[in-house]
Parts: sequence; C-alpha cells; structure tokens
Amino acid sequence: MISGVRTRLRPARITDRKKIYLWMAHSDVTPSMMGPPDYPDYPIPSWKEFCQEYAEHFFRPSGDGRGRNFVIIAGGEGVGTVGYDRCNRGKSSAVLDIWLSEEKYCGRGYGTDALNTLCRHLFDRYGIRHFYISPSSRNKRAAAAYTKAGFRQVAMSRRELEKEFGRGVNILDYCDNTVMKRVMKWRRSARPRRSVNPQEGRESWSGVRPQCQP
Ligand SMILES: CC(C)(COP(=O)(O)OP(=O)(O)OC[C@H]1O[C@@H](n2cnc3c(N)ncnc32)[C@H](O)[C@@H]1OP(=O)(O)O)[C@@H](O)C(=O)NCCC(=O)NCCS
Repeated sequence: MISGVRTRLRPARITDRKKIYLWMAHSDVTPSMMGPPDYPDYPIPSWKEFCQEYAEHFFRPSGDGRGRNFVIIAGGEGVGTVGYDRCNRGKSSAVLDIWLSEEKYCGRGYGTDALNTLCRHLFDRYGIRHFYISPSSRNKRAAAAYTKAGFRQVAMSRRELEKEFGRGVNILDYCDNTVMKRVMKWRRSARPRRSVNPQEGRESWSGVRPQCQP
C-alpha cells in the first residue's frame, strides 16, 4: 500500500479488473469522459476492448515498472483507479491515467492526491521524472485537478509524441486532447544514488527528495 495525504494506493489485482472497467464505462462519471452526447469522438469501450487496452499485466506484479493500475482507497473504500503506462526508464517518462468510481467522490481532492502519490512512488522506485497525461480539452475538471497536481500544458506535435513514446504509439485518443506534463526535479544539486536490493532485485533511489517543477 502506498500512502498519500488523502488517499492510499493499492496495486490492482486481476479480480479488480471488471470493477475498474465498470467504473470507467458504466458509472455516473462515464459521461464526463467518454461517449455521447459530450464525447461522440470517444465511444465507450466494450469489456473486450478494455481488456485489449488494459492487458493482464496492469493488474499483476508483472506490470511493475512497465504499466500498472492501482485502486485509490479513501475512507477504507475503493474510490477509483490511477495507473501508468509506457514507462520508459531510459527517457525517465511515463503516461498516467485516472478515473474515480462515482461522482460522489469527485471534487474532494482524491484525484489530485492520487496523482501526486503515484508520481512520487514512480520517482522513488524507478527514478521516473517526466509524467504525461492527456485529457480532452472539454474535460475542465480533469485539467483543473491535473494543474493542482503540478501538470502544465505542453505543445507537442504528433511527431514529437511519436519520438517520446515510440512509432505508432498515440496518446491522443480524443479529437481535442491536450498534453499535460509534470517534471520532478532534484531538490539538491546531487543526483540520487541508485541501488538494487539483492534479495528483492528491487531498485531504489536515495539521497534526495523530488520537487515539483511547474
Ligand atoms: C478527473 C478526476 C480524476 C479529478 O479528480 P477529483 O478528485 O475530482 O479532483 P480534485 O477534487 O482534486 O480537483 C477537481 C478540481 O476541478 C474543479 N472543477 C470541477 N468542475 C470544474 C469545471 N467544470 N471547470 C473547471 N474546474 C472544475 C474543482 O473545483 C476542483 O478544483 P478546486 O479544488 O481548486 O476547487 C475526477 O473528477 C474523475 O474521475 N472524473 C471523471 C473521470 C475523468 O474525467 N477522468 C479523467 C480522464 S482524462
């Protein structure tokens, strides 16, 4: 369990997959991010399509450091999911995604806190410093939450996105995506020390804390 201020993140399990799909595609938050009338350009995915996009590794330890979802816990309940994909350690970058389970949990700061917590975790564990998220520009609430979490809009052409994330990879799934980026920078001039725990084979970084650079 990864602790934030208002939320905690539990690595998602395969048994969470259907629930996480239902939160996305068949809940009262669905109309605020996909499907007509507001998002005719982003059809609601079927369960099969969701499983193709969110393959099993997002719900298993095999996705660690690659692409993984977490259940956001607040007040002892699962209130949404946050995850990362296209984790590129060479470029120190990852793409994030988030949705809460119900409208009643929105606007309480959970989304902002979950993003902060995930960025910190990915920095601490893998040294990731560049975080991207790409909402529709119609989704004002998402943009407001991401701005609070330290993301800023960046102008990136499709070519630059391909350069960053690989050929054929497209994070622009709406007709009007904005790309938002958060950069964590070292607080002190010294670079952190990377070490590998020989028993767990797990990487860790020590020596400095990350700082948000808007
Ligand atoms: C987007 C989402 C993850 C944000 O999480 P959250 O917990 O609701 O966000 P927060 O409460 O931290 O912040 C929301 C901010 O948006 C603001 N906001 C709400 N509606 C808004 C609107 N129409 N226009 C501008 N700002 C708005 C709120 O006032 C709040 O800012 P404040 O704290 O300064 O008042 C969550 O709302 C959600 O899951 N929405 C539905 C699914 C979705 O859109 N996912 C994103 C897909 S890219």
